[in-house]
Amino acid sequence: MRFTISKIQDMKRAGEKITMLTAYDYSMAKIVDEAGVPLILVGDTLGMVMLGYETTVPLTMEEMLHHAKAVVRGTKQSLIIGDMPFMSYQVSAADAMRNAARFMQEAGCQAVKLEGGVTVADTVKRIVDCGIPVMGHIGLTPQSIHQLSGHRVQGKTTDSARRLLNDALALEQAGAFAVVLELVPTLLARIITARLKIPTIGIGAGPYCDGQVLVIHDMLGLFTDFVPKHTKQYAKLAGVIKSAIGEYITETKSGVFPSSEHGSTMDEGLLKDL
Ligand code: KIV
Repeated sequence: MRFTISKIQDMKRAGEKITMLTAYDYSMAKIVDEAGVPLILVGDTLGMVMLGYETTVPLTMEEMLHHAKAVVRGTKQSLIIGDMPFMSYQVSAADAMRNAARFMQEAGCQAVKLEGGVTVADTVKRIVDCGIPVMGHIGLTPQSIHQLSGHRVQGKTTDSARRLLNDALALEQAGAFAVVLELVPTLLARIITARLKIPTIGIGAGPYCDGQVLVIHDMLGLFTDFVPKHTKQYAKLAGVIKSAIGEYITETKSGVFPSSEHGSTMDEGLLKDL
């Protein structure tokens, strides 16, 4: 039985912290699911950490769906959220509804996420009215990275802080079930969290959000191009993997691998006429 939207919202009411991690493929999603993480985001960060794009902007619906399907196949308990890629929901409400529905029908996700506040509130409402749960995402919105001139903390002036609060309230009003706060000052995230009935999920937004999200490649030390300041590396797997591969090369060259236990035997007599 998967986590449900109402269970996630109950967690806020009960003061129980919510965890969310990204996953992009079957094997990793299976591990995250079995570890008991309630929310898995098939984030558009997959464009960077899995596909090597410089930003999330080039990612397409087809690429997202390909990975979302694999994540759904690997999971039993987590609620899976498909991240709507750049320009899959901005052009028209009809586009947004059609693409949100593809995450549900083709990939088997239980919800979608999209970036923006007041400007996308009508779109969020239209999607929610179709029966598709929507998670909002405000603060640093990576699909607008060029307009925002880089990865900067958002909401640091009174005006921009007020705009972010209004964005959060507009998303709640539109029916979003939760909202990601990315790179928002701790105090502002605390105020927004207190003003909303729906859960806030923070990334680089301090400890007062109702939950936290991390990009799995960052928290496991698998993505080595750069380490975001807000990330805590719980492991350094790139190093572990490199040394395992080094050992494999050495053992193969020296003949230690494969040993008899990695092969299979047969009756020598069967081969005497070969
Ligand atoms: O795509 C993603 O991984 C995200 C998280 C950083 C929230 O949007």
